[in-house]
Order: sequence, then structure tokens, then C-alpha cells
Amino acid sequence: MQQYEKPIRVGVVGVGRGKGFARGAGPHLGMELVALCDTWEERLNELGKELSVATYTDYDKFLEHDIDAVILANYFHEHAPFAIKALDAGKHVMSETSACFTLAQGVELVEAVERSGRIYMFAENYPYMVFNQEMRRLYQAGHIGEFKYGEGEYVHPMSAEESARISPGMDHWRNWIPATYYCTHSLAPLMYITDTWPVKVNGFVIAHDPEDETHFGKTVRRSDLASMIAVRMDNGAVVKLLKGSLRGHGVWVRVHGNKGLMENLRFGDTHMVRVRREPFDKDTGEPVERVYLPDFPEHHAEAMKAGHGGGDFFMNYHFAEAIRRNEQPFLDVYRGVAMSIIGVLAYRSALDDSAPVVVPDFRDIEVRRQYADDHWSPAPWDRGPGQPWPSILGDMRPSNRGIEFASKIWRDSGYTG
Ligand SMILES: NC(=O)c1ccc[n+]([C@@H]2O[C@H](COP(=O)([O-])OP(=O)(O)OC[C@H]3O[C@@H](n4cnc5c(N)ncnc54)[C@H](O)[C@@H]3O)[C@@H](O)[C@H]2O)c1
Repeated sequence: MQQYEKPIRVGVVGVGRGKGFARGAGPHLGMELVALCDTWEERLNELGKELSVATYTDYDKFLEHDIDAVILANYFHEHAPFAIKALDAGKHVMSETSACFTLAQGVELVEAVERSGRIYMFAENYPYMVFNQEMRRLYQAGHIGEFKYGEGEYVHPMSAEESARISPGMDHWRNWIPATYYCTHSLAPLMYITDTWPVKVNGFVIAHDPEDETHFGKTVRRSDLASMIAVRMDNGAVVKLLKGSLRGHGVWVRVHGNKGLMENLRFGDTHMVRVRREPFDKDTGEPVERVYLPDFPEHHAEAMKAGHGGGDFFMNYHFAEAIRRNEQPFLDVYRGVAMSIIGVLAYRSALDDSAPVVVPDFRDIEVRRQYADDHWSPAPWDRGPGQPWPSILGDMRPSNRGIEFASKIWRDSGYTG
């Protein structure tokens, strides 16, 4: 195991998804978990005891603990204000998706990182799955030529039971975020592989189906089933993203270049990569098609033990490396915000008959200043003139059946909020 001079003292916020970060932030990466924060006291104390670290229910008090870095796995829509507070307190930040919930928050977040001089990393783990790292290696080596067209899919259907279990409370974010918002798992791999940026977006939403008895008909969800987002990248390439709760679980990435195609397999071992180069493009002796299981380029053994196909290992790893080198990581604040606002802008497009919407480049101060007051938000507490409903169908109300079903599961899981 590599020896590190001084461990990076880490605090984690949110003990759901945050558990993985907390358990992974160990001496093997030169990190030391020292504190946890969550408002759900019972779950917080349980994990605090298991990991023998300080626990806080109050975020401001948690920030006063002697920590160098904060990992945010709190609610989807609250990462930006939490990140800004931590940066202003002099902490490095790694934030779960989404980086920001509105365009105004995106501007504020970018400016907080710039003013703090601290490291900010967007914790998108999907690019670091083994097949995506291999596709980046091939792409960067010029193997499939210039990026022309790509697809990213994150299709994650859930039973009504599971949906209720992981979405406690009528206003839990999973029960109302619009179908385009959780888009970074499908876009991030394509940005990582090809190093291109989104410039224009069209959103298409597949509406809520209250008649679906085993699914939305039995939950308290008020948003839609799924979305398809078309994105134009800065090199002219076109990308199609598919995400949501459609039947047919799958995580899939496809990249067409002007010299070949690569993708991960859709079935069997989905970590395997398929590369195809046409007979008129390929080198002599090179097969037209290759299908193989790649290794991680580094830390293969450790990554193999981690969640999300190894992607989770690389979050803590790259965050720690960025702090030690004092250099922003690849998944910096600009990329994190760019990926996150695609979900917002695609929803705007979907509500306008899928018309194209320009994606502002927040690396440009003049451009981002134009969005500093853009608080467009579907959150229940932001309801008001000009604000969108979470569903393209408008004000969807859960059925009594859905409310009864979910309430029982929440009670059984100890949720009292
Ligand atoms: N990258 C991935 O693969 C992946 C997987 C799951 C979740 N996520 C992301 O991680 C985040 C958390 O996901 P989750 O499934 O654990 O969600 P969750 O809503 O179940 O958990 C959030 C936790 O944050 C706590 N919390 C909320 N407000 C707080 C506050 N003010 N102070 C302290 N704690 C607070 C909640 O009590 C809860 O335990 C989300 O943004 C989600 O998008 C990412």
C-alpha cells in the first residue's frame, strides 16, 4: 500500500449513497474519514458507530469539525448551496449529482469555486466504469477517429416497493424531479470519452402513466416516466441520451467516430467492449470486430471491489489526487455544471414542443452573468408564476392507493418525517 505523508481529513454528508464514499475514504487513498452529517439521526448514529467517527445533524456544526474535504451525498436538489457553504469555509468539495438544480445555482457554484481556490470535483462515477475508461483510451489514441454520433443510456426501472423505500416522504426529490433532470449518468461518459461539450439541446419527455398498476399507479410520483434528450456537441457531433424508468434495465454507451465504432455490450457481460472498424478503414491483420473485457488502466484490483462497476473507487481516488496535486480534476465544476444544466434545459425544451435550447458556457463570465437570476425550478416549494410543474402533463396528483402503499413502506422503514 502506498504511504501518504498526511491524510486528507474527510467528512461525508448524507448516509444513504454517502455510505459508499465513507467506507471507501481510507488510508489506501491517503484519506481519513473523520465526520458524518445527516438529519436522519438513527441512520447517522448507526453508521457513525460502525465507522467510529464524529456525527452531526447540523451542517454548520459539521463544517466546524477539523476537516479538509467534504463529500456531498445529500438531496439531489440541494448540492449547490451545501457546496458553496463548504467552499466558503475553506473546504475542498466533491459533490454528487446534480451539481446544481437551477441555472442561477450553476453560476453561483462556479463563482464560489473560483473565489475559494479549493478543489471541486463532480462525483460522476459512470465515466469511470471499466468500459468507459477503455473507450476513452481508444478514442484518445485516435482509434475510431473523430466523434460523430453517440448514445448514452441509463434506464433504471424500479418496482413500486423499491421506489417507495428509497423515496421517503411525499416531497422526497425522487417523487417529483422531472424526467430529464437525472441526466448526468448518460451524458458524462460521452463527455469523458470524447472531451466534447454540449452546446444545444432538445428534450422529449415520455409522460407519467397513472394507469401503470405496478409502477407509477402505485407510487406517489408526480413526474414523468422517462426522457430522450438530443444534444449537439461543440465539435458538431450529435448525442442521444435515454434515461428514466422504462422497462428494460440497462447502462449503455455507444460512440461512432469517422474511423470506427465502439460500445459496451448490451447483454452478457455488459462491461465488455465491442470495437468495429470497417474493412476499408482497418489496418492489415486487424479484425473487423473485437469483443473483449478490458482491465482498468490503473488500480484494477481495488476498483474491482468497488460499487457501480468500479466507478465508485475512482471518485475518491481522483478527488484525493486532485487535492494532493492542487489541480482541478477532469470532472471539474465547469463540466459538472454543464452536465447538470442539460437536464434543466432539456425540460424547458420539452415544455416548448422540444424546440432547441442553447446551452450556455459558464466558463465565460459574460455568458454566465446572463443566467445569474435564472431560478426556474419545478421544486414544490418554488411553485409560482412562470415555474414549471414536475410533469409535462401539469399538476399530477398521486392516487390514494399510491399514498397508502408508500406510507406503509415509509412507516416500516422507520421514516417519521
Ligand atoms: N452516482 C451514483 O451512482 C448515485 C447513486 C445513488 C445516489 N446518487 C446521488 O447521491 C445523492 C444522495 O442519494 P441517496 O439515494 O442517498 O438520496 P437520499 O435522499 O436517500 O439521501 C440523502 C440523505 O441526505 C440527508 N440529508 C438531507 N438533507 C440534509 C441536511 N440538511 N443535512 C444533513 N443531511 C441531510 C438525508 O437525511 C438522507 O439520508 C443524490 O444526489 C443522488 O442523485 C448517486
